[in-house]
Amino acid sequence: MFKRLQDKWGVSTRQFWILFIVFGLTGTTTAALTRYITSWLGMDESTFWVWKVLLRVGMLVFGYQAILLTYGFLLGQWAFFWKYEKKLLNKLGVWSLESGVNDSTPNSKLQTPNSKLQTPNSQLTHIAIFASGAGSNAEKIIAHLKNHSSIKVSLIVCNKPGAGVLGIAAANQIPTLLIEKERFFRGDAYLPELRSREIGFVVLAGFLWKVPDALVAAYPNKIINIHPALLPKYGGKGMYGMHVHEAVIAAGEKESGITIHYVNEHFDEGAPIFQATCPIEPGDTPEKLAEKIHVLEHRHFPEVVERVVNRESSIVSREYKAQD
Ligand code: GRF
Repeated sequence: MFKRLQDKWGVSTRQFWILFIVFGLTGTTTAALTRYITSWLGMDESTFWVWKVLLRVGMLVFGYQAILLTYGFLLGQWAFFWKYEKKLLNKLGVWSLESGVNDSTPNSKLQTPNSKLQTPNSQLTHIAIFASGAGSNAEKIIAHLKNHSSIKVSLIVCNKPGAGVLGIAAANQIPTLLIEKERFFRGDAYLPELRSREIGFVVLAGFLWKVPDALVAAYPNKIINIHPALLPKYGGKGMYGMHVHEAVIAAGEKESGITIHYVNEHFDEGAPIFQATCPIEPGDTPEKLAEKIHVLEHRHFPEVVERVVNRESSIVSREYKAQD
């Protein structure tokens, strides 16, 4: 039962027990405070029962919630309990979640017409990683987000039977979805599968097919890709894997790098989020460059994913063109 609750809240075991303690302390304190106020007001058996009920209801509705937030704050769980309160008030119709959040970042949960995909009041963002290759980036992202309190890698989408990423998914007990070309390019044909798993964010990590417009439209600013070069150079159709590194070396570039960007309707043209660079030494081969790029990707991609999903707007401008 605990495990189910923990999964529902999307928290680590440690955080789960802290939350448990907060609820426990809140219950005890509310009961003690109610008793204290009852006697302070001089209420006893002779008091009209309606007053006693009103006091208890008031304590439950207002006192309990205030104490919950106080303990939550003291035990470092303000974010969780504030979200919890807003959700409750939203259910009671007292607080509109939309008016309660001040966020103008492009991937704001509230600006999207499809907010159902990532409901503003859900605790957990389920992400799907689309990958067709070895999956080393997927593996790093999975490891980084393991036990994360609000993000979960819930699905690996792959178009190649036997791809390395499928083994990584199995080792991490993450469900996989093997997609088929004709159906994928029909547009949003796989949307029901993503929706049924409540996928709210998509990460392309070595996924070679162009994402159909209908899927981009279903996930506005919620699909990101990593490209193994410094876009806008060396991007576009046919620029993938070793083709990119060969072109960079052939052009005699002194540096290359990675670009993490939003996905739009055009190959490698979505708004950039993050870049990091590495030098190209004389004598570097495309293979050597590929190794350097992988190091950069593994170092930065997992954290960027986390920060973009968490809507940390600072990353968009401040770290764009970050030097390594
Ligand atoms: C990475 O280099 C990425 O930039 C590109 O595809 C490669 C995937 O590598 N889009 P891996 O499968 O994650 O090892």
